[in-house]
Amino acid sequence: MKLRLKFNLVMISVMALGLILAWFLAEEITQREAKRSVMAQAAAIMGTANAVRHYTGAQVRPLLKNQMESQFLPQSVPFYAAQQTFQGLTEKFPEYVFRLPTKNPTNPADAPSTWEAELIATFAGKPSLAEIVVEREEQGREILSYAQPITVDDKSCLQCHSTPEAAPSSMIDTYGPSNGFGWKLGETVGAQLVSVSKEIPRQRARENLLQMMAALASVFFVMLVVVNLLLHISILRPVQRMSRLAEEISLGNMTVPEFSTSGRDEISSLGVSFNRMRRSLVTAMVMLGD
Ligand code: HEC
Repeated sequence: MKLRLKFNLVMISVMALGLILAWFLAEEITQREAKRSVMAQAAAIMGTANAVRHYTGAQVRPLLKNQMESQFLPQSVPFYAAQQTFQGLTEKFPEYVFRLPTKNPTNPADAPSTWEAELIATFAGKPSLAEIVVEREEQGREILSYAQPITVDDKSCLQCHSTPEAAPSSMIDTYGPSNGFGWKLGETVGAQLVSVSKEIPRQRARENLLQMMAALASVFFVMLVVVNLLLHISILRPVQRMSRLAEEISLGNMTVPEFSTSGRDEISSLGVSFNRMRRSLVTAMVMLGD
């Protein structure tokens, strides 16, 4: 087998092994990283909804208080503002879904499913818990949810969520007197969730992995080209030249020029020895001829 082929076979095998190893190592890292970044985005979306909710409660609601007596204005409801904000955000992030599952909700659409009820119970049982990432399967689809608890953290909530008498009458006209009341200050009543299909982080991880692998493969390719060039210039070419000269000399052609050496590497010192051997041979031949 030729030296160049041997060299390339070994190098390509080692590089392929390196790529496979890097693939396995990077796959895990990119998946973890993609999940983390998707959940960070979910947390940012929720942070925006929270900020709007606080703004609505503190600044918009007092301004609309009087009008609320005659007409129900959902714009003054903090969680309505949060939901509206999220709806606006979904134009930019259509893959995310927002939900406010709540025990005894004002709006029946916010009634919790079984796993949501368990999540609310977990938050209620551990008040120090500020966030949870839930992974579950729904109708064969894997879903990631970022969750935060909803606690009745302000006295102002009680105006609309303690008793129907305390609530604006226009709100009772819209939602009725039986849902969304009896909440206590400090109670964890629900959870807010931003959910996304697991396919989203997986797809991002796949894209990142392919990019990393493509970069690594290009580096390997450049290395292969450079090593081949080096092999050709500093080993194969001088060895071929020397072999041609040796062939000529062995056939009795003593007029061929000397092997030109430059540099101080092993091939050059081989060249020097070769030239010396050739000169000795010529001298021996001359002596024999005499
Ligand atoms: C002006 C009355 C009002 C105030 C004040 C108010 N809410 Fe509500 N809240 C509502 C109404 C009405 C809804 C139902 C909105 C809808 O249709 O989705 C609601 C919905 C919610 C929901 C979603 C679940 C459900 O009940 O449908 C949560 C959670 C909630 N409110 C918590 C709070 C908290 C916590 C506060 C205090 C920071 C608060 N609310 C202040 C009227 C109010």
